[in-house]
Amino acid sequence: MAVSGLVMVGYLLLHMYGNLKVFSGKAAFDEYAHHLRVFGEPMLPENGLLWIVRVALLLAIVVHFHAATRLWARNKRASGAQGGKRYHSNKGRTGIQRSYASFTMRWGGVIILVFIVYHLLHLTANIIAPGGASDSPYQRVVNGFEIWWVTVWYTIALLAVGFHLWHGIWSALTTLGANRSSTRKASKLTPLAWIIAGAITIGFLLPPWAILLGLTG
Ligand code: HEM
Repeated sequence: MAVSGLVMVGYLLLHMYGNLKVFSGKAAFDEYAHHLRVFGEPMLPENGLLWIVRVALLLAIVVHFHAATRLWARNKRASGAQGGKRYHSNKGRTGIQRSYASFTMRWGGVIILVFIVYHLLHLTANIIAPGGASDSPYQRVVNGFEIWWVTVWYTIALLAVGFHLWHGIWSALTTLGANRSSTRKASKLTPLAWIIAGAITIGFLLPPWAILLGLTG
């Protein structure tokens, strides 16, 4: 769960950074999208890098989903099939990693999955094209986010991503042995998880809101 999650966090950081090219204008953004397709040529075929990333992400999602269902079943068995005992501790209700984020991991994950399907149909395949279809990736982005409900829907999904990452990053690093504290508040990983989750969420939200508010020119 931890390793597949961190693979996806790495992708999100790069994807969020790439999206900020929207602020450099249409030519720069479309050139960047084209570059992703011819990256590594002639060693790689056209779209080669894109397919390597797609396969890696698909594997990460399958592993992550499989691990989530296995953990869910083990948790249920361990709590005597009662459920609702996540992060339960006699030492105090807030002692362990109990937070809004930790309690919404499963539903957050479902929202993110639905969002990814919508997002691929929208900005990759251009099958759902609010505001109009276009061959230009930049134009697809602008056409979509000029519509308020598209930006609001992306905002809801991105908040779900942010919460998921807040707890997920802490959890993954703890699983991998980086944690030195048993409580959330005292753990140095807590601010680190907040910073990475916050940077990804805000970075992703900048282009849609700038477009909706007409700040991209
Ligand atoms: C407002 C936020 C976002 C914007 C503006 C955005 C923009 C885009 C664009 C323009 C593409 C198509 C790239 C191209 O065809 O050249 C794309 C693809 C993609 N995005 Fe996003 N994205 C956002 C958030 C996210 C999030 C949060 C995730 C994951 C949870 C994500 C995952 C993906 C994936 C997996 C692809 C497909 C890459 C491929 O196989 O072609 N995106 N995104």
